[in-house]
Amino acid sequence: MICIPITAKTNDEAINDLREASRFADIVELRIDYIKEPDLNALLKSKTKPVIVTNRSLRQGGLFEGDEIDRMDLLKKAINLKAEFVDVEYDCLGKIADKGVSKIIASYHDFSKTPDDLPGIHASIVKSGADIVKIVTFATDIRDNFKMFELLKATGFPTIAFCMGELGQISRILTTKFGGRLTFASLGKGKESAPGQLTIDDCKNVYRISKLNEDTDIYGLLGDPVSHSMGPHIHNASFDAVGINAVYVPFKVEAVSSFLEMSKKLDIKGLSVTIPHKETSVNFLDNIDVIAKNIGAVNTIVNRNGKLTGHNTDCPAAINSLSLTIINAVISGALKMAKIEPSPTGGSLPTLKDRKVVILGAGGAARAIAFGIKDKGASITIVNRVHQRAENLAAEAGCQSLKMHKIHKCEIDVLINTTSVGMHPEIDESPVPSYILKKGMVVFDIVYNPPETKLLKEARERGCIVLNGVKMFVKQAAMQFELFTGQRAPVKLMEDIIRKRING
Ligand code: ATR
Repeated sequence: MICIPITAKTNDEAINDLREASRFADIVELRIDYIKEPDLNALLKSKTKPVIVTNRSLRQGGLFEGDEIDRMDLLKKAINLKAEFVDVEYDCLGKIADKGVSKIIASYHDFSKTPDDLPGIHASIVKSGADIVKIVTFATDIRDNFKMFELLKATGFPTIAFCMGELGQISRILTTKFGGRLTFASLGKGKESAPGQLTIDDCKNVYRISKLNEDTDIYGLLGDPVSHSMGPHIHNASFDAVGINAVYVPFKVEAVSSFLEMSKKLDIKGLSVTIPHKETSVNFLDNIDVIAKNIGAVNTIVNRNGKLTGHNTDCPAAINSLSLTIINAVISGALKMAKIEPSPTGGSLPTLKDRKVVILGAGGAARAIAFGIKDKGASITIVNRVHQRAENLAAEAGCQSLKMHKIHKCEIDVLINTTSVGMHPEIDESPVPSYILKKGMVVFDIVYNPPETKLLKEARERGCIVLNGVKMFVKQAAMQFELFTGQRAPVKLMEDIIRKRING
């Protein structure tokens, strides 16, 4: 169930928000501590959904400034008015002599951490006579969420449990899968009642929280940062379109090895891997496919019966979209034919053979592309800000490296940017000076947001053949989806979602 807290500061605004929230929520929470003089009669009369009445003190992170007797009197009044639920801090339960027909949610909050002994805390609240236990803590580590899930799995008692803060967001999404009675979502941005609260729009339309249940399979994105990723938008919509009971969430992770261990325990079925974990993850997997092994970087991890296998869909996705661009450019006459390559279907493909390719960057994406292009017979030069990394990658991939300040001396047929330079929000930057961009050069920027980076704009203006990262991103995600689920990905839907979100 989804509960929307009403955090309006006046009775009139609260009545408006109650009406609005009732359109989307299963239940609403009336935060009367936010209102200076709450008119409980009027407020409760205007509700159309079951309500939780909460009057949180400053001590427990609320806004009620009056004395304790007044605070409890308001809660008793809510009970007299037959509010369905009343939230009482677990250590104040003794102050409620008669709970009438209301159910008491006994709540425990920790705004700085997630204690280890959640089962002990839970047991003592159950003993105190609660109808429903609510435990809300602050996540300082992604693993704190797992403590909540273990607690929920182990108890049969009606419980609301999740973590606050950015790192706790996944517990707000996944709590209902593990038996949590409800999650809280704000009516909109700026109307949150606690840190890390998702909007009702994200809960309903991105994560489809109302549809999650104990059979829902968990997938996600492993990286740091993860908050701006398109992954949750495309994978969740794709699960829905294909009719798979699964959810995809962002995991903001610093320590890969302990997270992957826990992911097995939670039976997380698959992970996309992004910056900065594509290379380090390789060390903590049970198996790794040939492409990913050669590259030394994974962007996809699949859990098959408790064994983690790494794959790399960046490589085929990049080569595929680049090859198609070159083929189209040759067909349209914009690009001269290089050497003819025999195609698997018996014809011939003018793609990358013998072309002079410069790759900007030496991270995971550069590795994937360098190894993929090498197989196509191109001549590759790696150029990177930290030259030592370019040298290392060049040595491994059997190609050349060049210092950044010498790039103007290089003959270039195809220039590929794999760095994050020019990516949102630093959209006014380009990884290379525009004078090196020559008419007829193919310029591929794997950045997809914005769809036209400064590099691509300058390249287009100078007569280059340009390709952005949208097709590559969609292709790698589609291949990932197919590895995750064994089902064909709804590619058109994925591309539409990306283009809509980046206005491309
Ligand atoms: P990914 O796995 O996506 O390739 P990564 O491994 O973190 O990500 O690599 C990021 C690449 O972008 C690196 O080549 C990095 O250059 P350094 O090795 O010199 O750090 C490059 N990069 C990131 N920010 C950059 C910037 N402001 N200027 C130039 N290169 C940058």
